[in-house]
Amino acid sequence: MSEQNLFKVTIDNITIEVPAGTTVLQAARLIGGQVAPPAMCFYSKLQGSGGKCRTCLVEVSKGSEKDPRPMPKLVASCRTTVMDGMEVKNITSEKVIDARAGVVEFLLLNHPLDCPICDQAGECHLQDLSFEHGKSETRYEFQRRTFKKHDLGKNIQLHMTRCILCYRCVFTADQLTNKRVHGILDRGDHAEIATHIEKSLDNEFIGNVIDVCPVGALTDKTFRFKNRVWFLKPMDAHRDCPTCSGRVTLWNRGDEVYRVTARKDQWGEVEDTPEGKPGWICNTCRFDKKETSDWIIEGPREISRQSVIAQGHYAGKIGMTKPKETFAAVNEGRTPHLLMDIHDQSEVNQPNIHLGKIQGPSHGDTFNRNNTHKA
Ligand code: SF4
Ligand code: FES
Repeated sequence: MSEQNLFKVTIDNITIEVPAGTTVLQAARLIGGQVAPPAMCFYSKLQGSGGKCRTCLVEVSKGSEKDPRPMPKLVASCRTTVMDGMEVKNITSEKVIDARAGVVEFLLLNHPLDCPICDQAGECHLQDLSFEHGKSETRYEFQRRTFKKHDLGKNIQLHMTRCILCYRCVFTADQLTNKRVHGILDRGDHAEIATHIEKSLDNEFIGNVIDVCPVGALTDKTFRFKNRVWFLKPMDAHRDCPTCSGRVTLWNRGDEVYRVTARKDQWGEVEDTPEGKPGWICNTCRFDKKETSDWIIEGPREISRQSVIAQGHYAGKIGMTKPKETFAAVNEGRTPHLLMDIHDQSEVNQPNIHLGKIQGPSHGDTFNRNNTHKA
């Protein structure tokens, strides 16, 4: 790249030179840390992504060296390319912080607050965003959207109520498979992810929609309800796969492999292989190779300190003191007649059951009926 193609851009008072054509978001990611705006729909490995969710809004306080006028409105940094001499404010702009809180409120209008039972909890970008910018109550007075259930096949579970219509899974199916069978049907309030005529998503690379989904709308049926991500130990591993790069992260508890995912970078996007290609993984690696012996383990995966999976991520902000609420306080003075300890009622820790290996989600039957599965 010749030098005249480099543009100087200043984001949150930090100046960087980037090639012409770079977006403000990519330039901010090159600086890193909090300077990089959140992005719920942009995915650098998917062509055409971005411009849907508005979480990446920034203020352009100086357009360029030639035309220093500020841009009149906040702009989506994932879709705005830098100009030479441009000055941008992200976390240093009150307007941006305020707008982001508004965007989060909109995203949460219909999104259920079911993090306690959602498999994406702990690695959900919307959960992080709500924690940073959300409010503790809602102003929305209407019923949240509900949808007819669509079965996407044996490996992928769709929870449409959680979808934020970012289109990432649609671009993934378009760009990684030879025939896309799902998409966004209808418009506006009725828009939903569906296959129109019930079809299962079974292309060999379709499992990647689970990794790109920023929320818990698309989750892995082989992992569903079996464990929480923060109890698992991520390990880098690889195998000689004829279909994909075979470079994955195993999510283990002891020797049990609960889940297999692509390796993700600090922006939550699939990491590049050493050959510089996106490290998408195939369904066989993701759903079928659930034995430690299927893999060559490289070592523990480093988890960023900022990640919610890292221990104590929220501790500094919430504090380590016990919450003040008691049952009586939240129950308007009524105290419960009976409190049950789950461990007295159910043998949930049966040592002969490997949750990572049972078919489908684990529930009462797994523990209470005669279970044929043996470790
Ligand atoms: S299902 Fe997930 S990836 Fe697909 S549009 Fe909805 S939020 Fe985005
Ligand atoms: S990440 Fe830019 S609009 Fe969604």
